[in-house]
Amino acid sequence: MAQRETWTTRAGFILAAVGSAVGLGNIWQFPFKTATNGGAAFVLVYLLAAVLIGLPTILGEFAIGRRAKLNAIEAFDRLDHPAWTVVGGLGLFTGLWILSYYSVVGGWVIRYVIGSLTGGYFGGTGAYFGAVSVGWEAIAFHGVFMALTAGIVAFGVEDGIEKATKLMVPSVIVMLLGLAVYAFTLDGSGPAYGYYLSPDLGYLANNLGSVVPFAVSQAFFSLSLGMGAMITYASYIDKDESLPADGGLVVGLNTAIGVLAGLVVIPLLFVQFGTVPEGAAGGGPGALFVSVAQAFTDLGMAGRVVGALFFFVVLIAALSSAISLLEVVTSYCVDKYDWDRKATAFGFGGALFLLGTLAAWDTAWLGWFDTLAYSVLLPASVLLGVIFVGWVYGPEAVDEIKQGSNADASVARLWIWWLRTVVFVGVFVTLYLGVTSIYASPGLPFL
Ligand code: PFF
Repeated sequence: MAQRETWTTRAGFILAAVGSAVGLGNIWQFPFKTATNGGAAFVLVYLLAAVLIGLPTILGEFAIGRRAKLNAIEAFDRLDHPAWTVVGGLGLFTGLWILSYYSVVGGWVIRYVIGSLTGGYFGGTGAYFGAVSVGWEAIAFHGVFMALTAGIVAFGVEDGIEKATKLMVPSVIVMLLGLAVYAFTLDGSGPAYGYYLSPDLGYLANNLGSVVPFAVSQAFFSLSLGMGAMITYASYIDKDESLPADGGLVVGLNTAIGVLAGLVVIPLLFVQFGTVPEGAAGGGPGALFVSVAQAFTDLGMAGRVVGALFFFVVLIAALSSAISLLEVVTSYCVDKYDWDRKATAFGFGGALFLLGTLAAWDTAWLGWFDTLAYSVLLPASVLLGVIFVGWVYGPEAVDEIKQGSNADASVARLWIWWLRTVVFVGVFVTLYLGVTSIYASPGLPFL
């Protein structure tokens, strides 16, 4: 077997992990999930979930990946717990499921890069979104996005993934900061800040059962947890790196970029509609594409350039996340069966393209794919992983966390205790509430 690649530098790993974490989950999904779940109340619970549940969980995935130095499936074998390969399998399935519709939204973003340049949406962003987000056009651009993803993965870790993500993080931050400041200067954005930043505790108390599971799952999605991505990426890390330091950096940057995206999208929604509108195009999945695009149209000719730049950066963010999903299955097939990397990447890309055509055809399907991922697959996959790290792999995991960090041994022990109690209960409740909510109203497009 060929020698296993490693990240060329520590920054290479951090950027790739942040590249996986920062994506449509932050820029597209977080603002609209905030808008549909009570504004600041959701933001507050999300921040708590990222730090109290997301951070300990990401450390667990790092500890598995780095010790095993193998893909997310075989890692469990290598750690002498072959029965737990099922955790890797569920993670792999969850990641592929998500990638199938993630790519559809990635396709919308490509469409908007072009639409900015040609001025396509300048005649009305709501109608434009309605036209390009479904049907044949959406399928075609979904195909382009998936082909780009497979193309990068085909080149391998050093040439493809590491290079593609290096520029992305700084440019996402700069673009979002610029837009947040611009939104702040616009008439009508004022009330957005109260809505986004000052939690309505009454709302929270009345909707705890839906806000909490949504926020916890959003943290998992956004941090790329429960899909084998972080296990796989950590398998390329060096022994003498500090996992807690890396984990803290990834969680911190990812959370900050999500909150920053909200500071762009929510004020722009208020400028355009005076409130957070209901419905798919306004406050739902179309929020980014309708409100931010509208701000570009107001800039006239300059808006075309700024708009194209903005959507291009979003595209890079989406691609660097999508490649981490496809890399999970690709590295497994390459490690285990010695399959050809290029053929594997394009083979799975093609199959997922077919699955994703449902979500591309009709946003009701996209919503259903997303709901299943959020309410069931993600919490289930993370829960199994937490049980594995907490109880089965415990002492070795503690050892691995200590390795390379100068953290006191008591910090590592506190971590595993926290994982077994707070994280376990939090994820269990999230799964329970998610499953019962689906059971109560399945919302299937075909029912
Ligand atoms: N974390 C990515 C985002 O927020 O867009 C989505 C994602 C990428 C999820 C990779 C899972 C994953 F493995």
